[in-house]
Amino acid sequence: MSSAAARPCPIESVLHALHARFAPLRDGRVATYIPELARANPDCFGISLATADGHVYEVGDTRVPFTIQSISKPFVYGLALEDRSRDAVLRRIGVEPTGDAFNEISLEPGTGRPLNPMINAGAITASSLVAGHSLEDRWARILALLSLYAGRALELDETVYRSERDTGHRNRAISHMLRNFEIIERDPEPDLDLYFRQCSIAVTARDLSIIGATLAAGGTNPLTRERVLKSANVDEVLSVMTTCGMYDYAGEWVYRVGLPAKSGVAGGILAVLPGQLALGVFSPPLDARGNSVRGVAVCEALSEELGLHFLNPPRAAVSAVRSRATLQQLGSKRARPEAERAVFALHGGEGVVYQLQGDLSFAGMEAALRRIVREPPAVTRFVLDFNRVSDVDPPSTRLLIALYRGLVDRGCPMGFAGLARHPRLLRALDEARVRETAAPLATFDDLDAAVEWCEELILATHGHAPDADEELPLSKHELLRGVDAEQLDLLASLMERRSFAPRETVVRKGDPADELFLVVRGGLSVVDELADGRPRRLATLSPGVGFGEPSLIEGAVRTASVRADRASACWVLKRATFESLDGAYPTLKIRLLENLVRSATSTFSRLSVEAAAER
Ligand code: DON
Repeated sequence: MSSAAARPCPIESVLHALHARFAPLRDGRVATYIPELARANPDCFGISLATADGHVYEVGDTRVPFTIQSISKPFVYGLALEDRSRDAVLRRIGVEPTGDAFNEISLEPGTGRPLNPMINAGAITASSLVAGHSLEDRWARILALLSLYAGRALELDETVYRSERDTGHRNRAISHMLRNFEIIERDPEPDLDLYFRQCSIAVTARDLSIIGATLAAGGTNPLTRERVLKSANVDEVLSVMTTCGMYDYAGEWVYRVGLPAKSGVAGGILAVLPGQLALGVFSPPLDARGNSVRGVAVCEALSEELGLHFLNPPRAAVSAVRSRATLQQLGSKRARPEAERAVFALHGGEGVVYQLQGDLSFAGMEAALRRIVREPPAVTRFVLDFNRVSDVDPPSTRLLIALYRGLVDRGCPMGFAGLARHPRLLRALDEARVRETAAPLATFDDLDAAVEWCEELILATHGHAPDADEELPLSKHELLRGVDAEQLDLLASLMERRSFAPRETVVRKGDPADELFLVVRGGLSVVDELADGRPRRLATLSPGVGFGEPSLIEGAVRTASVRADRASACWVLKRATFESLDGAYPTLKIRLLENLVRSATSTFSRLSVEAAAER
């Protein structure tokens, strides 16, 4: 046994304790009305819990096969919904709980519809609605479907099937009654046969938990990642399980356990906590209503112990708004000249950046929208970062689109970061844009690029629209502030002007560093490599800023590479030239040093704000 396996797992401990607590229960009797079921071992007892992200905890006889019986009903109902329209299915099967036994011979007065798909009349009707060219084809589809739910190839238990087919006179009566009321409009025998077969599929408690976890995960098997049921139909299947899954025990079950569930006469119970987990319990002795005695006891105790009642949903584990910052607090990595920084010092509060996180369903999205809507009127530009958002459900997508439209209509642009992981939201935003505004949708991979977009909007509003093609005169460069005209001429004669083509490398990480660069045209990026080799942008540089300040003070090597984003130009001051200013031009050297310290201080404070925002 590995040391990891030896570590106590609290979830397994809970399951072990429940297994030990309920194994001695001797109440209930194994079903005998299908002769083959009477042979079940009453001591068999397994509990399996599968999470919506595909982890399975098992205790006891979780790999012992038994027949699925009525637990097949919600899944075949789901298949009927997918094969026919919801309305077509509703015309033939209602969704009202009966409070009757599973095999009650009852149809809705007037329409003749079975009252719900969990009682046998509704389940046989659901089987009759499964599409296919022939009985065998329809059977193959049902078996393949349940196999997809379970994540493995399931098989028919021939002996139980024959046993039920030969003795299921009551179900035969029900199917002919359905024929009589034209709910089934042909010979009902093949549909009845299909129903007997679906009930005789062999499963284990582990299978039940994975089948349930597929519903908990919205219709996608969390182990195989295969989509089994459209998410729109998951709600419908879980609804009928909630109201009718435990027959005449349904009301008490919801009260005591609070999980959509389905039981079967072979002793299985499947219960689902949407979004979180599913339970599969197997123990053959049944109570008077046909539900597994130990199964009911385990589900009730586990719901209590782990707080699983579905009407007691978890409050959002984390706040949907991870952070909110103005552009005064959180600037982009673009190193900007003094004049632009002055604009942000005054007007940076006009742009805000929201970093969102977690699952955005109603509660999370509402919290975020409320804060955005209540921003003061001075805030007119927004950036929403979705890089840490795991999911945005369709209703929340619609709410966000309404916010986006409302803001754009009022002249407040909104940019988005991290939408690549949310294609549905991206599509919806794109459609909203086409209808509402001609402006291109502002989407960016990383937050920094979105923040930079917002900064450019603020600069443009306040008369600082950058002109990348215009060359900045050296007299306006911030590293040469306070240098008089004569000294500027001297410096220009001592420096070298270099031009760079788009994407050209300006300096390379690891190269000797003995030159200071003063950017006067275009734009450059400081880039480093992540551990996996992908480039990471550390900063962007505009005309008016410099880089390589440390190389003037002490010769070293470049700690990152710099690349031209577009056609760019820099003036280059060599360390040896800078040092030679000592004797003849000491005031010039002091002025330059002052400017270098100012520039380094501003870089340092920007990095501190960034580091704080990352925490
Ligand atoms: O219809 C029947 O008799 C069985 N094949 C299925 C019944 C069943 O599992 C009822 N559920 N508790």
